[in-house]
Amino acid sequence: MKVVIIGAQWGDEGKGKIVDYLAEDAKYVVRYSGGPNAGHTIVVDGKQFALHQVPSGILYPEKKVFLGAGMVIDPEALFNELAMLKENGINWEGRVFISDRAHLILPKYRSMDKERDASRKRPIGTTGRGIGIAYSEKSHRDGLRLADLDWKEKIADLDAEDLDYLNKYRDQLLSMRVDLTSKMWEYRKDNILFEGAQGAMLDIDSGTYPYVSSGASCAAGAATGCGIGPHDLDHILGVFKAYETRVGNGPMPTEFNETSEGELCQYVRDTGREYGVTTGRARRCGYLDLVALRYACRVNSLDSLVLTHLDIYDEMDQIEACVAYDINGKIVTDFPANVDELNAAKPVLQKFQGWKASLKECRSYKKLPKNARAYVEFIEDYTGTPVGIISVGYERDETFVRKNPWKK
Ligand code: IMP
Ligand code: MG
Repeated sequence: MKVVIIGAQWGDEGKGKIVDYLAEDAKYVVRYSGGPNAGHTIVVDGKQFALHQVPSGILYPEKKVFLGAGMVIDPEALFNELAMLKENGINWEGRVFISDRAHLILPKYRSMDKERDASRKRPIGTTGRGIGIAYSEKSHRDGLRLADLDWKEKIADLDAEDLDYLNKYRDQLLSMRVDLTSKMWEYRKDNILFEGAQGAMLDIDSGTYPYVSSGASCAAGAATGCGIGPHDLDHILGVFKAYETRVGNGPMPTEFNETSEGELCQYVRDTGREYGVTTGRARRCGYLDLVALRYACRVNSLDSLVLTHLDIYDEMDQIEACVAYDINGKIVTDFPANVDELNAAKPVLQKFQGWKASLKECRSYKKLPKNARAYVEFIEDYTGTPVGIISVGYERDETFVRKNPWKK
């Protein structure tokens, strides 16, 4: 079985935790897009890990993990991350592999990325990790792939500074090199988990362009980013939070108003620990946006949804979620492409009764309070997609499954 996990919002939906949870039944975990702009937080036995490039499956001692062709890899940051894992007792040697088609980020890309964003009339709010530069070099056909470290003519063209830098990592990188298409073929009878980064709404094509990242964080990216065809993907899961967050700039129709909804915003931000793993920035917070979520379900053919952070509402009397946009007096339920329309959109909110109980100990759907189930079922009806897994806390075991994606 091949199971894909994507973020169904603007990233930070809790994918890291869900990948870690589902990785138990996978033999291999493959990350397929993005680079060190991602930040996946996983808590195991009270210990917190922040991963940026290494797939979350690494925390299991026996799993092999792969960095796919759709990724842009920063070697220096990667080896720092691996060193951090080793210091924490995670033995990664012999378990981390990189597609020979993955592109590399050079140190100068980081400053180029920041300068370019600063010079924009409408900055995107990039993480400044060189992601956009690496992907644009790739599209220009001037990028540098892992396999190219063995291409003598190409290496001879590099300037001295880049060459010195790459020489520090060359042997180690090449020792991790794999042909991912042949590996995927070899493992075709095994369970493989494909880990997305960022989220559907940050995808270069289906996201809120130009306020997006530069990779294919959509479900289809799992195919192009791992050297297989879309036909091979058996189950696609979209992870979403019970509310909305976004880091960086760009439209967010359901964002809380910092003045009139400031208290609610701060409550959600603090209870949900909504501060960036990669940049430490406070995340923008808002009401669950069902218009955007249904779009994400459709544009990615999601088979099921994973709901995280449901426990955020434990103490609230009432919950609200956005079921349509009011755009200059017109009611809209299809997610618009036009940024002016998205900026003008006012959320049409539907109210739900709170449950006023802690969900932390809840390990089955039956045990969820009635009002929590009503909220979940409304989301399922609205999006036309079943909620297969629910997370009620940060720990690996604070999760329960209604539909196991590994079973056909
Ligand atoms: P870049 O990918 O660093 O160029 O950032 C582009 C936009 O995507 C910015 O608004 C970032 O804040 C956002 N972004 C990139 N990666 C992530 C992520 O993993 N989680 C949330 N937002 C992200
Ligand atoms: Mg994150």
